Amino acid sequence: MKVAVLTGGGDCPGLNAVIRSAVRKGIQEYGFDFVGLRDGWLGALQGHVVPLEIADVRGILPRGGTILGSSRTNPFKHEDGVRRIRDTLAAHQVDALVVIGGEDTLGAATELSRQGINLVGVPKTIDNDVSGTDYTFGFDTAVGIATEAIDRLHTTAESHMRTLVVEVMGRHSGWIALHAGVAGGANVILIPEQPFDIDQVCEQVKNRFKINYAPIVVAAEGATPKEGQMILKDRSLDEYGHVHLSGIGEWLTQEISQRTGMDARTTVLGHVQRGGTPSAFDRWLATRFGLHAVDAVRDGDFGTMVALRGTRIIRIALDDTRGKTKVVDPSLYDEFQVFFG
Ligand code: F6P
Repeated sequence: MKVAVLTGGGDCPGLNAVIRSAVRKGIQEYGFDFVGLRDGWLGALQGHVVPLEIADVRGILPRGGTILGSSRTNPFKHEDGVRRIRDTLAAHQVDALVVIGGEDTLGAATELSRQGINLVGVPKTIDNDVSGTDYTFGFDTAVGIATEAIDRLHTTAESHMRTLVVEVMGRHSGWIALHAGVAGGANVILIPEQPFDIDQVCEQVKNRFKINYAPIVVAAEGATPKEGQMILKDRSLDEYGHVHLSGIGEWLTQEISQRTGMDARTTVLGHVQRGGTPSAFDRWLATRFGLHAVDAVRDGDFGTMVALRGTRIIRIALDDTRGKTKVVDPSLYDEFQVFFG
Protein backbone atom coordinates (compact mmCIF):
# COMPACT_ATOMS: atom_id res chain seq x y z
CA MET A 1 0.00 0.00 0.00
CA LYS A 2 1.34 3.42 -0.95
CA VAL A 3 -0.02 6.39 0.99
CA ALA A 4 0.30 10.09 0.13
CA VAL A 5 0.02 12.73 2.85
CA LEU A 6 -0.92 16.38 2.35
CA THR A 7 -1.48 19.38 4.62
CA GLY A 8 -3.88 22.07 3.37
CA GLY A 9 -5.29 25.42 4.51
CA GLY A 10 -3.80 27.68 7.17
CA ASP A 11 -0.98 25.88 8.96
CA CYS A 12 -1.12 25.13 12.67
CA PRO A 13 1.15 23.69 15.34
CA GLY A 14 0.95 19.88 15.35
CA LEU A 15 0.84 19.18 11.60
CA ASN A 16 4.32 17.67 11.69
CA ALA A 17 3.36 15.47 14.64
CA VAL A 18 0.55 13.93 12.55
CA ILE A 19 2.87 13.35 9.58
CA ARG A 20 5.47 11.74 11.85
CA SER A 21 3.12 9.38 13.65
CA ALA A 22 1.29 8.30 10.47
CA VAL A 23 4.57 7.60 8.68
CA ARG A 24 6.16 5.83 11.67
CA LYS A 25 3.22 3.51 12.27
CA GLY A 26 2.44 2.99 8.61
CA ILE A 27 6.00 1.92 7.78
CA GLN A 28 6.94 0.12 10.97
CA GLU A 29 3.70 -1.76 11.63
CA TYR A 30 1.99 -2.08 8.28
CA GLY A 31 4.87 -1.98 5.81
CA PHE A 32 3.29 0.90 3.85
CA ASP A 33 5.24 3.25 1.57
CA PHE A 34 4.69 7.00 1.91
CA VAL A 35 5.07 10.10 -0.23
CA GLY A 36 4.21 13.71 0.51
CA LEU A 37 2.18 16.05 -1.72
CA ARG A 38 3.61 19.57 -1.50
CA ASP A 39 1.47 22.56 -0.52
CA GLY A 40 -1.89 20.89 -0.04
CA TRP A 41 -4.07 20.25 -3.07
CA LEU A 42 -1.67 22.32 -5.19
CA GLY A 43 0.90 19.51 -5.12
CA ALA A 44 -1.79 17.01 -6.04
CA LEU A 45 -2.76 19.15 -9.04
CA GLN A 46 0.79 19.85 -10.14
CA GLY A 47 2.24 16.42 -9.48
CA HIS A 48 4.63 17.82 -6.88
CA VAL A 49 5.41 14.65 -4.96
CA VAL A 50 8.26 14.26 -2.43
CA PRO A 51 9.67 11.20 -0.65
CA LEU A 52 8.48 10.58 2.90
CA GLU A 53 10.58 8.05 4.75
CA ILE A 54 11.18 7.57 8.47
CA ALA A 55 14.38 9.62 8.13
CA ASP A 56 12.33 12.54 6.76
CA VAL A 57 10.13 12.67 9.85
CA ARG A 58 12.89 12.43 12.47
CA GLY A 59 13.03 15.42 14.81
CA ILE A 60 9.88 17.10 13.50
CA LEU A 61 7.57 16.40 16.47
CA PRO A 62 8.20 19.74 18.22
CA ARG A 63 8.45 21.79 15.01
CA GLY A 64 5.65 24.18 14.11
CA GLY A 65 4.43 24.60 10.52
CA THR A 66 4.44 21.70 8.11
CA ILE A 67 7.38 20.04 6.38
CA LEU A 68 5.05 19.47 3.38
CA GLY A 69 4.03 23.10 2.95
CA SER A 70 0.43 24.28 2.72
CA SER A 71 -1.88 26.36 0.56
CA ARG A 72 -5.54 27.27 0.30
CA THR A 73 -5.82 25.68 -3.16
CA ASN A 74 -9.31 24.43 -3.96
CA PRO A 75 -9.03 21.66 -6.57
CA PHE A 76 -12.58 22.33 -7.76
CA LYS A 77 -11.60 25.86 -8.81
CA HIS A 78 -8.96 24.52 -11.21
CA GLU A 79 -9.72 23.21 -14.65
CA ASP A 80 -9.74 19.42 -14.76
CA GLY A 81 -8.83 19.42 -11.07
CA VAL A 82 -10.14 15.96 -10.27
CA ARG A 83 -8.59 14.38 -13.35
CA ARG A 84 -5.24 16.02 -12.60
CA ILE A 85 -5.29 14.68 -9.04
CA ARG A 86 -6.14 11.18 -10.31
CA ASP A 87 -3.24 11.44 -12.78
CA THR A 88 -0.80 12.41 -10.02
CA LEU A 89 -1.94 9.55 -7.80
CA ALA A 90 -1.76 7.07 -10.68
CA ALA A 91 1.67 8.27 -11.82
CA HIS A 92 3.06 7.60 -8.34
CA GLN A 93 1.03 4.41 -7.70
CA VAL A 94 -0.63 6.02 -4.70
CA ASP A 95 -3.44 3.88 -3.26
CA ALA A 96 -4.70 6.21 -0.55
CA LEU A 97 -4.41 9.76 0.77
CA VAL A 98 -4.19 11.11 4.30
CA VAL A 99 -5.61 14.64 4.08
CA ILE A 100 -4.80 16.91 7.03
CA GLY A 101 -6.90 20.06 6.87
CA GLY A 102 -9.63 22.29 8.18
CA GLU A 103 -13.19 22.64 6.92
CA ASP A 104 -12.17 23.80 3.42
CA THR A 105 -9.49 21.20 2.72
CA LEU A 106 -11.68 18.49 4.21
CA GLY A 107 -14.68 19.79 2.24
CA ALA A 108 -12.72 19.24 -0.96
CA ALA A 109 -11.65 15.83 0.39
CA THR A 110 -15.29 14.91 0.97
CA GLU A 111 -16.16 15.65 -2.65
CA LEU A 112 -13.08 13.81 -3.96
CA SER A 113 -13.97 10.83 -1.80
CA ARG A 114 -17.48 10.84 -3.28
CA GLN A 115 -15.82 10.73 -6.67
CA GLY A 116 -13.95 7.56 -5.72
CA ILE A 117 -10.59 8.73 -4.39
CA ASN A 118 -9.50 6.68 -1.36
CA LEU A 119 -8.78 9.04 1.48
CA VAL A 120 -8.93 9.58 5.23
CA GLY A 121 -9.24 13.05 6.79
CA VAL A 122 -7.49 14.49 9.84
CA PRO A 123 -8.99 17.70 11.29
CA LYS A 124 -6.66 20.58 12.11
CA THR A 125 -7.01 24.29 12.82
CA ILE A 126 -6.19 26.74 15.57
CA ASP A 127 -9.82 27.93 15.29
CA ASN A 128 -11.22 24.63 16.70
CA ASP A 129 -14.26 24.99 14.45
CA VAL A 130 -14.29 21.65 12.58
CA SER A 131 -17.53 19.91 13.42
CA GLY A 132 -17.56 16.33 14.66
CA THR A 133 -14.46 16.56 16.85
CA ASP A 134 -14.31 17.93 20.39
CA TYR A 135 -10.95 19.57 19.68
CA THR A 136 -8.61 20.12 16.77
CA PHE A 137 -4.87 20.25 17.40
CA GLY A 138 -3.33 23.70 17.10
CA PHE A 139 -6.10 25.23 19.19
CA ASP A 140 -4.48 24.57 22.56
CA THR A 141 -1.21 26.14 21.41
CA ALA A 142 -2.99 29.21 20.04
CA VAL A 143 -4.95 29.65 23.27
CA GLY A 144 -1.71 29.40 25.24
CA ILE A 145 -0.06 32.09 23.11
CA ALA A 146 -3.10 34.40 23.33
CA THR A 147 -3.39 33.87 27.10
CA GLU A 148 0.25 34.73 27.64
CA ALA A 149 -0.21 37.87 25.55
CA ILE A 150 -3.24 38.90 27.63
CA ASP A 151 -1.30 38.32 30.87
CA ARG A 152 1.43 40.61 29.60
CA LEU A 153 -1.03 43.24 28.43
CA HIS A 154 -2.62 43.46 31.89
CA THR A 155 0.49 44.92 33.49
CA THR A 156 1.14 47.54 30.83
CA ALA A 157 -2.57 48.44 30.70
CA GLU A 158 -2.60 48.98 34.49
CA SER A 159 0.55 51.12 34.37
CA HIS A 160 -1.06 53.54 31.91
CA MET A 161 -4.67 53.09 33.01
CA ARG A 162 -5.80 52.57 29.45
CA THR A 163 -7.89 50.04 27.58
CA LEU A 164 -6.04 47.38 25.64
CA VAL A 165 -7.95 45.66 22.87
CA VAL A 166 -6.57 42.29 21.75
CA GLU A 167 -7.67 40.93 18.37
CA VAL A 168 -7.29 37.17 18.09
CA MET A 169 -7.99 34.78 15.20
CA GLY A 170 -11.38 33.20 14.69
CA ARG A 171 -13.24 33.89 11.50
CA HIS A 172 -16.55 32.19 12.19
CA SER A 173 -16.05 30.96 15.72
CA GLY A 174 -14.92 32.55 18.95
CA TRP A 175 -13.22 29.55 20.57
CA ILE A 176 -9.79 31.19 20.85
CA ALA A 177 -11.26 34.48 22.08
CA LEU A 178 -13.43 32.77 24.68
CA HIS A 179 -10.84 30.35 26.03
CA ALA A 180 -7.95 32.84 26.08
CA GLY A 181 -10.20 35.66 27.30
CA VAL A 182 -11.45 33.58 30.22
CA ALA A 183 -7.99 32.18 31.01
CA GLY A 184 -6.47 35.66 30.80
CA GLY A 185 -9.17 37.39 32.87
CA ALA A 186 -10.44 39.75 30.16
CA ASN A 187 -13.44 41.82 31.10
CA VAL A 188 -14.95 42.00 27.60
CA ILE A 189 -14.91 39.01 25.19
CA LEU A 190 -16.40 39.48 21.73
CA ILE A 191 -17.06 36.50 19.47
CA PRO A 192 -18.55 36.15 15.96
CA GLU A 193 -21.45 34.06 17.27
CA GLN A 194 -22.79 36.97 19.37
CA PRO A 195 -23.01 40.37 17.64
CA PHE A 196 -22.07 42.97 20.25
CA ASP A 197 -23.52 46.30 21.30
CA ILE A 198 -20.77 48.94 21.24
CA ASP A 199 -22.60 51.04 23.87
CA GLN A 200 -22.58 48.08 26.23
CA VAL A 201 -18.90 47.41 25.55
CA CYS A 202 -18.10 51.03 26.44
CA GLU A 203 -20.16 50.75 29.64
CA GLN A 204 -18.21 47.65 30.62
CA VAL A 205 -14.96 49.47 29.92
CA LYS A 206 -16.02 52.44 32.07
CA ASN A 207 -17.07 50.14 34.92
CA ARG A 208 -13.61 48.68 34.96
CA PHE A 209 -11.99 52.11 35.19
CA LYS A 210 -14.35 53.01 38.05
CA ILE A 211 -12.86 50.25 40.23
CA ASN A 212 -9.35 51.26 39.23
CA TYR A 213 -8.57 48.47 36.86
CA ALA A 214 -7.52 48.77 33.23
CA PRO A 215 -9.94 47.03 30.85
CA ILE A 216 -8.80 44.21 28.58
CA VAL A 217 -11.08 43.63 25.60
CA VAL A 218 -10.55 40.40 23.65
CA ALA A 219 -12.17 40.33 20.19
CA ALA A 220 -12.20 37.50 17.67
CA GLU A 221 -11.36 38.81 14.20
CA GLY A 222 -14.87 37.83 13.03
CA ALA A 223 -16.71 39.65 15.85
CA THR A 224 -19.24 42.16 14.53
CA PRO A 225 -21.12 45.07 16.01
CA LYS A 226 -24.88 44.58 16.21
CA GLU A 227 -25.77 47.44 13.93
CA GLY A 228 -22.95 47.07 11.45
CA GLN A 229 -21.21 44.85 8.99
CA MET A 230 -18.11 42.80 9.49
CA ILE A 231 -14.96 44.91 9.49
CA LEU A 232 -12.90 43.90 6.49
CA LYS A 233 -9.26 44.71 5.84
CA ASP A 234 -9.71 44.16 2.13
CA ARG A 235 -12.27 42.49 -0.05
CA SER A 236 -10.09 39.89 -1.74
CA LEU A 237 -11.37 36.32 -1.52
CA ASP A 238 -9.41 33.09 -1.32
CA GLU A 239 -10.31 30.04 -3.46
CA TYR A 240 -12.86 28.95 -0.87
CA GLY A 241 -14.61 32.35 -0.96
CA HIS A 242 -13.32 33.64 2.40
CA VAL A 243 -12.58 37.32 2.83
CA HIS A 244 -9.36 38.51 4.44
CA LEU A 245 -10.45 39.58 7.92
CA SER A 246 -8.83 41.97 10.38
CA GLY A 247 -9.72 45.43 11.52
CA ILE A 248 -12.22 44.87 14.32
CA GLY A 249 -9.54 45.52 16.98
CA GLU A 250 -8.60 48.90 15.53
CA TRP A 251 -12.26 49.85 15.07
CA LEU A 252 -13.06 48.96 18.69
CA THR A 253 -10.09 50.94 19.98
CA GLN A 254 -11.20 54.06 18.13
CA GLU A 255 -14.80 53.74 19.28
CA ILE A 256 -13.82 53.06 22.89
CA SER A 257 -11.42 55.97 23.16
CA GLN A 258 -13.87 58.38 21.48
CA ARG A 259 -16.88 57.28 23.50
CA THR A 260 -15.17 56.94 26.91
CA GLY A 261 -12.67 59.76 26.54
CA MET A 262 -9.98 57.39 27.82
CA ASP A 263 -6.85 56.24 26.09
CA ALA A 264 -6.96 52.88 24.25
CA ARG A 265 -4.56 50.79 22.16
CA THR A 266 -4.83 47.71 19.93
CA THR A 267 -2.75 44.54 19.76
CA VAL A 268 -3.41 42.26 16.79
CA LEU A 269 -1.91 38.85 17.57
CA GLY A 270 -2.26 37.54 14.01
CA HIS A 271 -0.08 34.70 12.80
CA VAL A 272 1.95 34.59 16.02
CA GLN A 273 -0.94 32.39 17.19
CA ARG A 274 -0.22 29.86 14.44
CA GLY A 275 3.55 29.74 14.57
CA GLY A 276 6.08 27.93 16.69
CA THR A 277 6.21 24.76 18.67
CA PRO A 278 3.00 22.89 19.54
CA SER A 279 1.89 22.53 23.17
CA ALA A 280 2.16 19.11 24.82
CA PHE A 281 -1.59 18.59 24.39
CA ASP A 282 -1.43 19.38 20.67
CA ARG A 283 1.50 17.00 20.18
CA TRP A 284 -0.47 14.31 22.01
CA LEU A 285 -3.67 14.85 20.01
CA ALA A 286 -1.90 15.20 16.66
CA THR A 287 0.13 12.05 17.32
CA ARG A 288 -3.04 10.10 18.13
CA PHE A 289 -4.81 11.43 15.03
CA GLY A 290 -1.90 10.29 12.85
CA LEU A 291 -1.88 6.80 14.39
CA HIS A 292 -5.63 6.39 13.98
CA ALA A 293 -5.65 7.79 10.44
CA VAL A 294 -3.17 5.17 9.33
CA ASP A 295 -5.30 2.49 11.01
CA ALA A 296 -8.29 3.71 8.99
CA VAL A 297 -6.20 3.42 5.82
CA ARG A 298 -5.20 -0.14 6.75
CA ASP A 299 -8.88 -0.99 7.33
CA GLY A 300 -9.85 0.53 3.99
CA ASP A 301 -12.24 2.79 5.91
CA PHE A 302 -12.14 5.60 3.35
CA GLY A 303 -14.32 8.72 3.27
CA THR A 304 -13.88 9.03 7.03
CA MET A 305 -12.25 11.53 9.36
CA VAL A 306 -10.61 10.80 12.70
CA ALA A 307 -12.07 12.82 15.57
CA LEU A 308 -11.71 13.29 19.31
CA ARG A 309 -14.82 12.36 21.31
CA GLY A 310 -14.18 12.70 25.04
CA THR A 311 -10.87 10.91 25.43
CA ARG A 312 -11.41 8.48 22.56
CA ILE A 313 -10.42 8.81 18.92
CA ILE A 314 -13.29 7.77 16.68
CA ARG A 315 -13.97 7.75 12.93
CA ILE A 316 -16.85 9.68 11.43
CA ALA A 317 -18.08 9.97 7.85
CA LEU A 318 -16.63 13.05 6.15
CA ASP A 319 -20.06 13.55 4.63
CA ASP A 320 -21.51 14.16 8.09
CA THR A 321 -19.22 17.14 8.71
CA ARG A 322 -19.66 18.83 5.32
CA GLY A 323 -20.62 22.49 5.48
CA LYS A 324 -20.98 22.50 9.26
CA THR A 325 -18.93 24.85 11.43
CA LYS A 326 -18.58 24.12 15.14
CA VAL A 327 -19.45 27.38 16.87
CA VAL A 328 -19.62 28.53 20.49
CA ASP A 329 -22.95 27.72 22.07
CA PRO A 330 -24.66 30.82 23.60
CA SER A 331 -25.09 29.01 26.92
CA LEU A 332 -21.34 28.39 27.16
CA TYR A 333 -20.63 32.06 26.49
CA ASP A 334 -23.22 33.05 29.09
CA GLU A 335 -21.47 31.01 31.79
CA PHE A 336 -18.86 33.76 31.98
CA GLN A 337 -21.19 36.80 32.16
CA VAL A 338 -20.15 37.43 35.76
CA PHE A 339 -16.67 38.40 34.56
CA PHE A 340 -17.83 40.84 31.89
CA GLY A 341 -17.99 44.52 32.73
O1 F6P B 1 -8.16 29.11 9.38
C1 F6P B 1 -7.30 29.47 10.38
C2 F6P B 1 -6.99 30.93 10.34
O2 F6P B 1 -5.89 31.13 11.18
C3 F6P B 1 -8.14 31.87 10.69
O3 F6P B 1 -8.34 32.03 12.07
C4 F6P B 1 -7.76 33.15 10.01
O4 F6P B 1 -8.89 33.91 9.69
C5 F6P B 1 -7.09 32.67 8.77
O5 F6P B 1 -6.61 31.38 9.04
C6 F6P B 1 -5.95 33.55 8.30
O6 F6P B 1 -5.48 33.02 7.13
P1 F6P B 1 -4.21 33.49 6.29
O7 F6P B 1 -3.07 32.64 6.75
O8 F6P B 1 -4.57 33.21 4.90
O9 F6P B 1 -3.96 34.91 6.61
